[in-house]
Amino acid sequence: MAANKKLLVLPGDGIGPEVMREVRRVIDWMDRRRSVSFDISEDLVGGASIDGRGTPITKEVVAKALAADAVLFGSVGGPRWDKLGFEMRPEIAILTLRRELGLFANLRPATVLDPLVEASTLKPDVVRGLDLMIVRESTGGLYFGEPRGIETLPDGQQRGTNTEAYSTHEIEQVARVSFELARKRQNRVCSVEKANVMESGLLWRQVVTALHEREYGDVALTHMYADNCAMQLVRNPRQFDVIVTTNLFGDLLSDLASMLTGSLGMLPSATLGAPDSSGRRHALYEPIHGSAPDIAGKGIANPLGQMLSFAMLLRYSFDMEDDARLIERACTNVLASGLRTADVMGQGTAKVGTSVMGESVLRELEKLAA
Ligand code: IPM
Ligand code: MG
Repeated sequence: MAANKKLLVLPGDGIGPEVMREVRRVIDWMDRRRSVSFDISEDLVGGASIDGRGTPITKEVVAKALAADAVLFGSVGGPRWDKLGFEMRPEIAILTLRRELGLFANLRPATVLDPLVEASTLKPDVVRGLDLMIVRESTGGLYFGEPRGIETLPDGQQRGTNTEAYSTHEIEQVARVSFELARKRQNRVCSVEKANVMESGLLWRQVVTALHEREYGDVALTHMYADNCAMQLVRNPRQFDVIVTTNLFGDLLSDLASMLTGSLGMLPSATLGAPDSSGRRHALYEPIHGSAPDIAGKGIANPLGQMLSFAMLLRYSFDMEDDARLIERACTNVLASGLRTADVMGQGTAKVGTSVMGESVLRELEKLAA
């Protein structure tokens, strides 16, 4: 029996709890079949926490996240909480976790699975075999920079301010993660900013270049302006292997890249902190789709993004590569068999809901593990 692995599960709002339910079934299956035991605790975040506890995330939940080996996050937000003050928005939950756990490297893969090549809005020839990784800086930049706020000017007008700022250390630590990842992939990194108009972007480029020269000369490094990168991502996405970029540009570019794959519902992500001396690091895993309030409660959401986030958790937090692959293969096989949730329907496929999709993955796992 492998040692207990401490998991904090935070389903959140909207479709979060629905898709998380299917992942819990996979976790139970692993417990039963593969002798891996997880010590799981589940808690509230986002709107669910606002309703129950009056805040998007409590100190206790942050403490539990700090003590966990990994956090599996669903999604937060919804129209019910849209009118609350800024500090009371459900999104504060995920931003707080990123900041408090020091989760500075947000890994967002965009992979086109063969059975889904027709689900992309782009031509199959452009996206077939796509496998790119966006590494988004996630504890700095415009999201956290000071000064920030809304002030009233002497003439009665108001002004909203946010600050884009990056220090050498912040740039280096996320660039390092990207170079290390690239070495295990196609060994190419494209660093993205707007060094042509922003000083923070210029420093970004200088620091990435210097680190590359010092320690990662074996990795092919290119630089690109963020606007050009957006264009290149739809023109010829396969030119990229690893893209490393700032918090805001990464937010935009990863949504864009996700649609290359057909559906936001398919994509997982991992957000990692710095490893300590024993190699242990804080980490949070979440699908990149949001809470999708328009389809919440209907039982039609795609659980695969959450499922694949759990696979990433096994890979990056517990070094369980075989089990991660097993889950990924089970998901791909189910899609190849023609079963689809509404978001990734194609010609000649059969529409199923969230729980049938979950069940089908379980059945496939049984087969693969037999
Ligand atoms: C994401 C989301 C978040 C972000 C929101 C929910 C705060 O869009 O993870 O991409 O902007 O980082
Ligand atoms: Mg986003």
